[in-house]
Amino acid sequence: MTASVSFSEIFSVIYAKEHRLMSTRKILVTSALPYANGPIHLGHLLEYIQTDIWARFQKARGHQCYYVCADDAHGTPIMLKAQEQGITPEQMIAKTNVEHQADFAGFAIGFDNYYSTHSEENRQFASQIYNKLNDGGYIKRKTISQLFDPEKQMFLPDRFVKGDCPKCGALDQNGDSCDVCGATYSPTEVKNARSVVSGATPVLKDSEHYFFDLPAFGQMLQDWTRSGSLQDEMANKLQEWFKDGLQMWDISRDAPYFGFEIPGAPGKFFYVWLDAPIGYLASFKNFCDKTGINFDEFWRLDSDAEVYHFIGKDIIYFHSLFWPAMLHGAGFRKPNAIYAHGFVTVNGAKMSKSRGTFIKARTYLDHLNPEYLRYYFASKLTSGITDLDLNLDDFSQKVNADLVGKVVNIASRCASFITKRFDGKLSAAVAEPALLAEFVAMGDSIADSFEKREFARAIRDIMALADKANQYIDAKAPWVLVKDESKQQEAHDVCSMGINLFRVLMHYLKPVLPLMASETEAFLNSTLCWNTYQQPLLNHAVNPFKALMQRVDPLKVQAMLEASKDNLQPQTSTKPVAEQAAKTDTKAAASAREPISETISIDDFAKIDLRVAKIIKADAVEGADKLVQLQLDIGGGEVRQVFAGIKAAYAPEQLEGRLTVMVANLAPRKMRFGLSEGMVLAAGPGGSDIFILSPDDGATPGMRVK
Ligand code: 2FM
Ligand code: ZN
Repeated sequence: MTASVSFSEIFSVIYAKEHRLMSTRKILVTSALPYANGPIHLGHLLEYIQTDIWARFQKARGHQCYYVCADDAHGTPIMLKAQEQGITPEQMIAKTNVEHQADFAGFAIGFDNYYSTHSEENRQFASQIYNKLNDGGYIKRKTISQLFDPEKQMFLPDRFVKGDCPKCGALDQNGDSCDVCGATYSPTEVKNARSVVSGATPVLKDSEHYFFDLPAFGQMLQDWTRSGSLQDEMANKLQEWFKDGLQMWDISRDAPYFGFEIPGAPGKFFYVWLDAPIGYLASFKNFCDKTGINFDEFWRLDSDAEVYHFIGKDIIYFHSLFWPAMLHGAGFRKPNAIYAHGFVTVNGAKMSKSRGTFIKARTYLDHLNPEYLRYYFASKLTSGITDLDLNLDDFSQKVNADLVGKVVNIASRCASFITKRFDGKLSAAVAEPALLAEFVAMGDSIADSFEKREFARAIRDIMALADKANQYIDAKAPWVLVKDESKQQEAHDVCSMGINLFRVLMHYLKPVLPLMASETEAFLNSTLCWNTYQQPLLNHAVNPFKALMQRVDPLKVQAMLEASKDNLQPQTSTKPVAEQAAKTDTKAAASAREPISETISIDDFAKIDLRVAKIIKADAVEGADKLVQLQLDIGGGEVRQVFAGIKAAYAPEQLEGRLTVMVANLAPRKMRFGLSEGMVLAAGPGGSDIFILSPDDGATPGMRVK
């Protein structure tokens, strides 16, 4: 080892120690707990990848950062799914836990602990918190009337009731909302209601429920949400909820239920959403007990540790109201911040099984490198809550251009010369100190971007540096220099410079690409850490270079989409499936062909005036999750407004400019959001499996369809 190597290594050690002493933070990070009744899919992965990058970054900076998670194992859907499979819920959640952990490991999600809410720690914390809230007078009891399945002898959660929409009469709608008119209602209002579990007609039944007095925490929550704990969009949303007034929260469910029985209340169980966030505490406690870390240091009221929950924007209510109120009422500290993200769409639309875009983590891993996805998500993630589109063409193009074409290219163009011509050793001098200094100088602002969850900005800055490194290598052309005996030193210096520039970039990319970073460390014979990039490797032996990443193979992307369609085979079982009510999109899987309707005469058909229409404008409808507001050009200078229940399948901007077919003589219908002047034709069972019709090329707005 030479003097200069020793110096740089000593410098790094001193720097690390100083840095640690000066600013080590204690940080606990969580992602939302996935339900234990379904596979991890790409929608989930956005959050785990986002959190993992952030946690890895904090660890790389030398902070004491822990990332914990668990399966969310309780609730009616899990109980019913286990019944359907003829196993106990405990068996089902154990099996799912193994699958989830394998999927997460496949994507290099580096949890410090992965646990389950069905654990002794969680039972204890749930009881402790409940007892504290009860002692504080925050638990009230009230008898309520709910739909009950007389055959299954169980109360039915809203989504286990189906029937006809009480507003527009559409058949076979959800227990709480109508896909056709966008109305929301109580399951007791549904016409011809039936239980999704048994098919029986539900009856109303009284039962005493336990309620958490959320309104009692109104002022505290208003103060907390204004203290910078939420993103602006979320804080604004909360202001609306405060204005509408907070409601008592029903935290009990009657047996049969898979969960924890409420202390002192036989036959009553905690609603899954009560003990789910408590699972954050339980998983961390389980981790602390295994490692000797002090749990109280993180969770006591005067803790100086930081706690952050990464979640999807759909569960902000639970995390920014119920959860801090429960913690506060039970004497725990509250989180520093809740970081919400948007949803994943694939090729511009919600993930759909029939399009093959409902991609499970396992299916992805069977075909593609997990770090492609980590990189792609990182390159698009901001600190906001806008949805993130995984456009598969853009995905391939970006990974190929940035990672393979820019970053890996830097090393691959220099490394073989180092090995073959220069004895596997980097040169003793920095050929271009100003360029290296420029790369190093970007470290603080890239760190700032990671810290603020502005990963897209960090990636942009890193790729701009990668461009500079490649320009440097292009300009110096080491492949020409090596051919000239008199320029061997220069060739050596240039290649070493290239490797050192690559090394700085891989420091920055390590939180995003931990697997490639680890192979880079093996190649460089040196660990990448946030306090080691400042000093170049000089006179340093590296190992022979192996390709660090392959280009995305389009055939594999196609194969992944095909494999994602596999589960579309019609089901043979005719019994009502609880899964139909579960969160995942299973409608298409369940639909065998609908029976053909009664015969009509040609005159009957002629009464329907079908026209080619051009979608000139498409907008989301405020307050209606399922509707898109369309402005349709139907020729003759006429524009019609139509509300269509296709939001789950199409992003509005995807629709603009398309031709479709509409029923032009349907009586206009007054909807909550405005007048609907016709109907757009679409096929499919509903939800994200809706396919609007398009005429062949050459059709123009106003043409009659006959
Ligand atoms: O929405 C969900 O998927 C829930 N299982 C998230 C729970 S997060 C936390 F509260 F446990
Ligand atoms: Zn309706």
